[in-house]
Amino acid sequence: MRSEDYRSIASRWISGVSIVTAYEDDEPVGAAVSAVMPLSLSPAQFAISLAASSSTLATIRRTGRFCVNILSSKQQDYCRRFSGPRDERFTSLDYHLGMLGVPVLGDALAHVECELESDHVGGDHVILVGAARAGAANDCEPLGYFGSRFWTLTPCA
Ligand SMILES: Cc1cc2nc3c(=O)[nH]c(=O)nc-3n(C[C@H](O)[C@H](O)[C@H](O)COP(=O)(O)O)c2cc1C
Repeated sequence: MRSEDYRSIASRWISGVSIVTAYEDDEPVGAAVSAVMPLSLSPAQFAISLAASSSTLATIRRTGRFCVNILSSKQQDYCRRFSGPRDERFTSLDYHLGMLGVPVLGDALAHVECELESDHVGGDHVILVGAARAGAANDCEPLGYFGSRFWTLTPCA
């Protein structure tokens, strides 16, 4: 398949956006990630997909834990921040370390702290499966991502 066709098809997949975070040597790291999946209820697992070149992936592989922070509609600016310069991503940001010692961002729609269980190479990405250990959900509006743009959602009926 031509890569432009692949990109065109993939852009029709609607998703949310999360900030996947990790923590190593007293330093928080994180990246914007749309490839997140609630994988399994029993056992409770989440899966994420990160580019093989991702520095966040490297940290998660070394530390064995990560947090998925699902963004609310008011956190669109986090996407630019967490895909921009690495040394500015947590500057003046509201976060605390959760039960597993991973960064939990303030005011997210929901978050889940995971222990890395397995990783699976998928082409130029790596799928990480994490055991969900702790988390919380809020009732604010989600941030949607579709066609390279951000959206807020309204119910169909
Ligand atoms: C809305 C949005 C969604 C993204 N989704 C993913 C994704 O699912 N997987 C991924 O590896 N990168 C994704 N990225 C790109 C990463 O956030 C970006 O490459 C980041 O710089 C990676 O940082 P790192 O190398 O420090 O981990 C996304 C970026 C944006 C803005």
